[in-house]
Amino acid sequence: MNGPNIEKILITGDEIQERVRQLAQQISYDYEGKVPILINVLKGGVLFLSDLMRELRVLHEIDFMSVSSYNDGTDTSGVVRILADLSINIEGKDVLIVEDIVDTGLTLDYIRHMLLARHPKSLRIVTLLDKKERRRVDVPLDYVGFTIPDAFVIGYGLDYRQKYRNLPYVAIMRPDE
Ligand code: IMP
Repeated sequence: MNGPNIEKILITGDEIQERVRQLAQQISYDYEGKVPILINVLKGGVLFLSDLMRELRVLHEIDFMSVSSYNDGTDTSGVVRILADLSINIEGKDVLIVEDIVDTGLTLDYIRHMLLARHPKSLRIVTLLDKKERRRVDVPLDYVGFTIPDAFVIGYGLDYRQKYRNLPYVAIMRPDE
């Protein structure tokens, strides 16, 4: 495998694990006595979800959605396509969306409204990474792992052209890649 064109490691694997533990503690506290459904947005969020759920101290269910808002490179298309929908009926349920990264917010805004139309009892959002400067629509984020600068990042689930999701850290990719 060719190595990725890494400019610098932004968040180490240890830092991620520590922050995920903290987020799980807070979420476990907030959802005590409830059984939330964790909705994971494929594919970038899978590593985050699997680490987060292992640290949760409340009963929960998981389900998946697949959407696409990006073309095959680093530019947003602004178009959100639903590639696969949920398998669980979320009406009357406590729902927690688990995202890898919020960039423009277009994807999450779309998903959020789509899920709200199904009348969950509550709907919250946890994202590992928040690229705040790039936001184009205001989406309420209930739990944020790290706020990061405006740079294209890979690793810990995040891809460049579907590769590098396996890196245990989050790294800034060199733009000439
Ligand atoms: P948004 O709709 O602009 O917020 O984009 C959300 C989606 O774009 C994320 O779920 C990622 O899949 C992808 N994305 C945004 N920024 C990055 C990045 O820096 N690296 C890899 N994927 C990204």
